[in-house]
Amino acid sequence: VRKQRLLVVANRLPVSATRKSEDSWALEISVGGLVSALLGINEFEARWIGWAGVNVPDEIGQRSLTKALAEKRCIPVFLDEETVHQYYNGYCNNILWPLFHYLGLPQEDRLATTRSFQSQFASYKNANQMFADVVNEHYKEGDVVWCHDYHLMFLPRCLKEYNSKMKVGWFLHTPFPSSEIHRTLPSRSELLRSVLAADLVGFHTYDYARHFVSACTRILGLEGTPDGVEDQGKLTRVAAFPIGIDSDRFVRALELPQVKDHMKELKERFAGRMVMLGVDRLDMIKGIPQKILAFEKFLEENPIWRDKVVLVQIAVPTRTDVPEYQKLSSQVHEIVGRINGRFGSLTTVPIHHLVRSRPSTLTDDRSLDFHALCALYAVTDVALVTSLRDGMNLVSYEFVACQASKKGVLILSEFAGAAQSLGAGAILVNPWNVTEVAASIGYALTMPADEREKRHRHNFTHVTTHTSQEWAETFVSELNDTVVEAQLRT
Ligand code: UDP
Ligand code: G6P
Repeated sequence: VRKQRLLVVANRLPVSATRKSEDSWALEISVGGLVSALLGINEFEARWIGWAGVNVPDEIGQRSLTKALAEKRCIPVFLDEETVHQYYNGYCNNILWPLFHYLGLPQEDRLATTRSFQSQFASYKNANQMFADVVNEHYKEGDVVWCHDYHLMFLPRCLKEYNSKMKVGWFLHTPFPSSEIHRTLPSRSELLRSVLAADLVGFHTYDYARHFVSACTRILGLEGTPDGVEDQGKLTRVAAFPIGIDSDRFVRALELPQVKDHMKELKERFAGRMVMLGVDRLDMIKGIPQKILAFEKFLEENPIWRDKVVLVQIAVPTRTDVPEYQKLSSQVHEIVGRINGRFGSLTTVPIHHLVRSRPSTLTDDRSLDFHALCALYAVTDVALVTSLRDGMNLVSYEFVACQASKKGVLILSEFAGAAQSLGAGAILVNPWNVTEVAASIGYALTMPADEREKRHRHNFTHVTTHTSQEWAETFVSELNDTVVEAQLRT
């Protein structure tokens, strides 16, 4: 059978480009849950449309990059510098991202953001139209067009204006906040209406879907049904599709000699100490300062643990042109420095804060990095995920997938989507409550083996039976069905 053609449209392509010369490019794998999940799907003949993360003003550059990306089945959307500033740094990451994660703007930015709102929103719409133009250029009849994330809430409408027959799905990788939060957005109605132009709208959890439907009923006055949202007889299906990972890839990696070597090295390096691990993009939503402060409190209250445990925190720089992210980065450095000064000795420090300067490269190094990550997951005793809000959080899934032999403990924020699927196996915490997290660290480090096993089994079963492949197949087949049903109704 011929595979279904799928156009995956996301702001960020799975590879990001760096310019080497006038017409040559280095491609590196992009970091983030969206990319990780979508790389795992292979049941479709998929093409990606998105931004390669680089400004390419000249024609030679655009042509050569288009060619380089074509080998990865990627099609670039070229965003100029001003658009990146207003649409990506501004509207997407300074307005929508914090709002959808229930994080207010810092006091000093509030007024400035209110002032620049209109021009940023105009740029957002304009950028979405640029994505639509590229999709339209590559669209063939019968294709499924799958739009992703908060960057592209305008896209479904732009696409349907081009061609009302196009099958269009939209999936949000972040939480969708309570309608009380969404209400505060000046562009609240336009965004909802544009998303509703899609045939199928998907979220990670039932709560997010419900928030979206209430936003449509309360703000737009539309009717919510068990299937979705209805507007003058036209139904937009709204449902929850919890994402997963390609768990086999992790399980298989642990059998590789290079991963085993790496594990051995790590075990030697941390001999005599329990290993705690955090892996996050350096983002406000991840609650990294909260996590580190909880670890400090644990060390403070439990002097006997001070030379018996280490916290390895991998932090991947992200959105570094947005001031809030710059502030976070220096804040984390400062706290880590202070704690290491306080509890460290000449030879060891309690926190290993590893800031990755660049995402891994696509060719051979990518696997190296992936393998290093797997090894780290596998030697970890306790993983700490303290997101203040998080759409799903795939790091928690990846950790579980790598723990078949160790059966380590997952401490997981109740505000991550993953808390709904891994809640019974993990220790759930409120990351704002440093005392509670510190106590959970103590509990996790001393948990009896039989309890660890039981908890691990629960999580492992979930992670290995709810894969990214299955997630994508379910979404796309639901989208196909929705379109057929709509045709039957008219
Ligand atoms: N990741 C990576 N390299 C790193 C650190 C993280 O590729 O150095 C990946 C990680 O394996 C995971 C993704 O980035 O698949 C993060 O996804 P998650 O859903 O946890 O959070 P997001 O970054 O999407 O907010
Ligand atoms: C989250 C978002 C993705 C985004 C990723 C990395 O996972 O849901 O859409 O790609 O973060 O962020 P970036 O801004 O670098 O694309």
